Amino acid sequence: RTVLVLAGGISHERDVSLRSGRRVAEALAARGHRVVVRDPDATLLPYLEESRPDVVWPALHGASGEDGALRALLAAQGVPYVGSTADASRLAWHKPVAKVLVSRAGFSTPLSLTLTRDSVRELGGAQVLSRVHSSFPGPVVVKPATGGSAQGVTSVHAEDELPRAIVDAFTYVETALVETKVAGTEVSVGILDLGEGPQPLPIVEIVPRSGVYSFEARYNAGETSFFTPARLDDSVAAAVSDAALRIHDVLGLRHISRVDFIVDEAGVPWFLEANVLPGLTETSIVPQALVAAGLELGEVYETLAEVAIR
Ligand code: DAL
Ligand code: MG
Repeated sequence: RTVLVLAGGISHERDVSLRSGRRVAEALAARGHRVVVRDPDATLLPYLEESRPDVVWPALHGASGEDGALRALLAAQGVPYVGSTADASRLAWHKPVAKVLVSRAGFSTPLSLTLTRDSVRELGGAQVLSRVHSSFPGPVVVKPATGGSAQGVTSVHAEDELPRAIVDAFTYVETALVETKVAGTEVSVGILDLGEGPQPLPIVEIVPRSGVYSFEARYNAGETSFFTPARLDDSVAAAVSDAALRIHDVLGLRHISRVDFIVDEAGVPWFLEANVLPGLTETSIVPQALVAAGLELGEVYETLAEVAIR
């Protein structure tokens, strides 16, 4: 089969995508597939029309890869692709929207408010800050409403750190999300459908050396310790896995995803976000979970491609 792996792109996570794409391509090639790796640039459409790959494996993170735009284009071309549909991707990718859908389904997600760049301009900084302070008594996390790899994300513990955090988020997108910072254990659950329905992978517990799972903590080996399976009581672990699986369904995700939570002291999983295309780099979470589950990466990536073609 010819598998077209898309990697790179123009999102802020371009470098991460190149790393994920390389790993996926190598694993597929090692299993005997004809693998073509391309950047999704202006030559993509003519290439698809001429070459008609059997399946596209979009190893793209961030805008265009995870927001559904490129997936809509692939669907319009009639090319099968691995992962979620354009519609589901668009919903999951937008954190404030995903939080509403997930909370409507009965799951906990940290209290939040969104700020658009325009609203901040209209209200003025002082108003905005007082609104945030009155809504959130304790520490908050400020993040771009869309995005990944912790880019533009700041944990705010002191009032005077807030303006800078909001400005940082706005350097990425027009909408910032301010969320209560829930204290607890950071965990992440990959969801995988190898053709027999979605199943949760072992829960990965994330313990960054710096205390914050930042971009640096994500992509430099040794900066973060991972515990797989997570050190949770059995009943809590079961609840986390079940929540991840149901959230994957609530958001209409397909084939592969990763759902991130903070588990508080009482064992309640607080939904942070769902990732349409989880990182697949050397230091990423899902590959570790696959290995812990006794699965072979190449076989998994190959089966996902087959499921996409079916
Ligand atoms: N956004 C990065 C790639 C992740 O979720 O792992
Ligand atoms: Mg993410």
